Amino acid sequence: MISQSLHQPFARSLAAPKAPLLPGSAGAFPQAGADVVIRQAMAADQAAIVALVHSERLNPYDLRWERFWVALAQGAVIAAAQIRHHADGAREVGSVVVESGHRHRGVASRLLDAMLAKATDELYLVTGGSLVGFYGRWDFTPIGIAHAPRSVRANFWLGQVIGGALSCLHGHAPRRLYVLRRSARTGVPVNWPGDDGWAA
Ligand SMILES: CC(C)(COP(=O)(O)OP(=O)(O)OC[C@H]1O[C@@H](n2cnc3c(N)ncnc32)[C@H](O)[C@@H]1OP(=O)(O)O)[C@@H](O)C(=O)NCCC(=O)NCCS
Repeated sequence: MISQSLHQPFARSLAAPKAPLLPGSAGAFPQAGADVVIRQAMAADQAAIVALVHSERLNPYDLRWERFWVALAQGAVIAAAQIRHHADGAREVGSVVVESGHRHRGVASRLLDAMLAKATDELYLVTGGSLVGFYGRWDFTPIGIAHAPRSVRANFWLGQVIGGALSCLHGHAPRRLYVLRRSARTGVPVNWPGDDGWAA
């Protein structure tokens, strides 16, 4: 049951005409018909990651390239996402961002497919209400804030208070944030079909 639900986003990206998988390209995850390559981040990506995250006023803390995956078009970083490792042991998906000119082409979906495919830990995520359904594709579901680990609660309140203040400054209504959780996975296959080209 679990492995079936894990396959759903992966299968979708395989089925999508804009995202067929071409295995066998030494640590990258290229897409036929699109100039987008998805891979784990490298030290050289650090500045681009920080710039992207800052451009959308996402949580500016804990942006270590070692935790990130990135998408590149023509060699430039156009999207990023990470799994934070908190001191209390919690794992939190964050910093999900795609450069504005590259949105609505499935880039975030491909990035999350790749980053989450082999993630077996319980995962948390803090997001606005409009994206709750989007993350549901990877089995994230809303939980009460009281059920989240301390570190995730801290990020929730950081986003709610600082994000709310910034929204007010710009004349927008503050958006309500939600905490989402995805259960830990067991029995995740070591090798996925056709994943020869994936970074470990
Ligand atoms: C959210 C974001 C990462 C999505 O990136 P993307 O590459 O456009 O996403 P994908 O193309 O993979 O998926 C898009 C689909 O997901 C859903 N989706 C994407 N953004 C959505 C939103 N804001 N509200 C509801 N659904 C959304 C829709 O089904 C959409 O389909 P469409 O492209 O036909 O409209 C991008 O809009 C972004 O960087 N936003 C600003 C930063 C941000 O808010 N990050 C989220 C932090 S939790």
